[in-house]
Amino acid sequence: MTLRGIVICPEGDLAARFDEALAEFRGVQIVRELHRYPDHLELMRMIRSCIPHVLFVSIETLPKALEILTTVRAEAPGIQVAALSRTLEPSALLEAMRAGIRECLAPPFDRKELGEAFARMASAVEQTPVLLDVTDHVYAFLPSKQGVGTSTVAMNVAIALGRQKKGEVLLLDMDLSSGIIGFMLKLSNSHCVVDAAENAHSLDESIWSQIICQKGGIDIVHSGRLNPDFRIEAQQIRQILDFARRNYKFICVDISGNLEKYSIEVMHEAKNIFMVVTTEIPSLHLAREKLAFLQRLDLADRVRVILNRYHRKSLVTPSQVEGLLGVPIAFTFQNDYQGVHAALQDGRAVDPGSELGRQFRSMADSILGVLPGAEPQQARKRVVEFFSILPPRVQATGTERP
Ligand SMILES: Nc1ncnc2c1ncn2[C@@H]1O[C@H](COP(=O)(O)OP(=O)(O)OP(=O)(O)O)[C@@H](O)[C@H]1O
Ligand SMILES: [Mg+2]
Repeated sequence: MTLRGIVICPEGDLAARFDEALAEFRGVQIVRELHRYPDHLELMRMIRSCIPHVLFVSIETLPKALEILTTVRAEAPGIQVAALSRTLEPSALLEAMRAGIRECLAPPFDRKELGEAFARMASAVEQTPVLLDVTDHVYAFLPSKQGVGTSTVAMNVAIALGRQKKGEVLLLDMDLSSGIIGFMLKLSNSHCVVDAAENAHSLDESIWSQIICQKGGIDIVHSGRLNPDFRIEAQQIRQILDFARRNYKFICVDISGNLEKYSIEVMHEAKNIFMVVTTEIPSLHLAREKLAFLQRLDLADRVRVILNRYHRKSLVTPSQVEGLLGVPIAFTFQNDYQGVHAALQDGRAVDPGSELGRQFRSMADSILGVLPGAEPQQARKRVVEFFSILPPRVQATGTERP
């Protein structure tokens, strides 16, 4: 096997000598080299984006090296940590060994000794695979019909999630034919999902930081200029989502309703598909068609219906919607033209204090599994069975029924 390694070594001379010695070994590939000690966040981003087998860490500043070791043990068990040292100073060495570092490497980096150390590390890697915390919270937002408000819902729910999980939420606009999220949030970044697709095979945190925008406490990749002819390959979708799963806890993907191959790939990757409908007959008709289509792909059981732009005077009632679709409504969002319009004008989410804002928050809470209020569980039991994606008591709260 080839050992993928990251070198963390502030001492330039030591790093250079180690690199030189490594040049003779084909079985070790250094995927990243850092000439300073990273903080916790940077270390984890680096680990998630290149999943190394080994970290070669200088122990010249021992407390820093031990911090790295503690992080790896807690958050990425399975990754080997080897010490680099100029002098193999006995007391530092002893402390490193006590902390659990099994390999210590020092100049002149004897070829035979290095080879043996790498062989031991390779066999340790084979015995204990690297375990990383990868999220399964991927949610696709699918319009039943154009203009039902899917992007509005996706964006507002993502931002509501971000209010509680700062820095852990990603919103991907994968609607290449009419992506609107960049416009909605007044994003100015010139990079977009097309760049993510083109770099999908080699995404790392430095490329990613250029692709994303940050707004409202979340990271966003917008869809760029209209690009209906651009096709993202299924493999690129998987690579982008793999990267995102390692770097975020919650991933919301806005897709078009055209059911392109890449949108279907996103739905295959998703834990839930939130299909947005309104009480308009054409939307309901197309929702039925889409449900039948998703059924044929074995995706129907992950669909959750969102009724958007609902108002009490609507001619079609929510229970008629459920009857027509044969599926319960999971969340209902009221029609609030003014609230949505004001948010659009300011390039932000809907006011979280408004009724619609609270409904978005309820849906976010249910995704998060937060249990607001003390509702009697018993009374909700049937709903629990009905709506569950996560703790269903909350899900029921998110459903505003007249
Ligand atoms: N709950 C709501 N209350 C009032 N207006 C809304 C609501 N949700 C969305 N809208 C409005 O509906 C229109 C369509 O919204 P949006 O672009 O989010 O829909 P979409 O389903 O993503 O459309 P597309 O099919 O073009 O992707 C916009 O003018 C938006 O402001
Ligand atoms: Mg849209």
